[in-house]
Amino acid sequence: MKVLVVGGGGREHALVWKIAQSPLVKEIYCAPGNPGIAGLAICAHIPADDIDALLDFARAEKINLTVVGPEVPLTMGIVDRFQAAGLEIFGPNQAAACIEGSKSFSKDLMAKYAIPTAAYQTFTDRDAAVAYINEQGAPIVVKADGLAAGKGVIVAMTEAQAIEAINDIMLDKVFGAAGASVVIEEFMDGEEASFFAFTDGKNVLPLASSQDHKRAFDNDEGPNTGGMGAYSPAPVVTAALHDEIVETIVKPTIAGMANDGCPYSGILYVGLMIKDGKPRVVEYNARFGDPEAQPLLMRMKSDIVPVLQACARGNLQQDSIEWHDKAAVCVAMASGGYPAAYEKGFEITGLEEVLAMDDVMVFHAGTTLEDGKIVNAGGRVLGVTGLGDTVAEAIDCAYRAVAKIHWNGVHFRKDIGQKALNR
Ligand code: AMP
Ligand code: GLY
Repeated sequence: MKVLVVGGGGREHALVWKIAQSPLVKEIYCAPGNPGIAGLAICAHIPADDIDALLDFARAEKINLTVVGPEVPLTMGIVDRFQAAGLEIFGPNQAAACIEGSKSFSKDLMAKYAIPTAAYQTFTDRDAAVAYINEQGAPIVVKADGLAAGKGVIVAMTEAQAIEAINDIMLDKVFGAAGASVVIEEFMDGEEASFFAFTDGKNVLPLASSQDHKRAFDNDEGPNTGGMGAYSPAPVVTAALHDEIVETIVKPTIAGMANDGCPYSGILYVGLMIKDGKPRVVEYNARFGDPEAQPLLMRMKSDIVPVLQACARGNLQQDSIEWHDKAAVCVAMASGGYPAAYEKGFEITGLEEVLAMDDVMVFHAGTTLEDGKIVNAGGRVLGVTGLGDTVAEAIDCAYRAVAKIHWNGVHFRKDIGQKALNR
């Protein structure tokens, strides 16, 4: 069969790498892809949000299954368009993707189905929002309702910070229409984890646990980023907690979506805050996490393609995934200055040397080819992912590879995975 992966980051490189190993797959395409993906798939120069062009391409190439990586095409309705054209596609439709695209939608869903999360209220009036902040006090969390490229959440430690965030979003409209309404919620303390489950809209197939590192600098300091590294499994998610998450969060979410007339199929990403062994939802995403997909897919032993097909077809029967009995650690190597402004175009060295290492994959995110050289072209540039018998060995493996790779200004965290060791 022929598979098309939509996207061009580290998550999509990992998906292409995993899908390409399936005996069911003859040809694999990626749009737009990147120089790392180009070693495994035929890359089509189509942006991930150009749905018309993607549809034309899938028809022309007779693609049997399309797999969507990022949230933007999902919230634009790529799944609805492909399905209307009779093409098989993995991911939620536009209505279901609201679970990520609208914070008020997801908060209302959780309230209705008693899914544990932070207390909240939604506001469209600035003065009412400020009055609520004054009443609740700090710390408190302010969220633009719509998609804001991961920047729409402000964890305010003081009331003044929270009010400044309200003014930025509601008066200065820094996130445009995404800030027309605002969710204000209780600050949750604890340890974060990422939880994923495949679903066909009825049945769920949970993945192994993982944990992201959202802050830019060591010891969880600095600004939030798309994720500076991840590991799997995450020991904070014990076997008992895993079952509790499935029963009290994942299953009620999927059943609630179906009951509300917008069944959710694809992969559900639940961002969790765990305090005293109890999980609460921070947010949902309608897609695989990046970087979490990188360590998870390196650990996945089962063929992923039948699972993706079953989700797309609504007949997910499989009740478990086989995992390699290894830990995986992914270190994101970023451009100097990320998540703020950074310079691009520096040559990346050492990639060849890492190719020769066992148990390491370098997933490309923000790279491009310039005069035959691979250069940095985005914030997060590479996801260097290593396997080991233990988290400690996987950390060692990933950082041995990281040490061989260099470009001008390169920046990465030195403590990815340490939380797992500290437990
Ligand atoms: P989100 O985009 O909703 O994932 O939020 C980004 C980050 O903000 C999360 O990963 C958390 O670190 C933090 N965050 C969001 N909501 C809360 C909350 N209610 N309490 C504490 N931290 C939060
Ligand atoms: N790793 C965070 C995300 O994918 O949103």
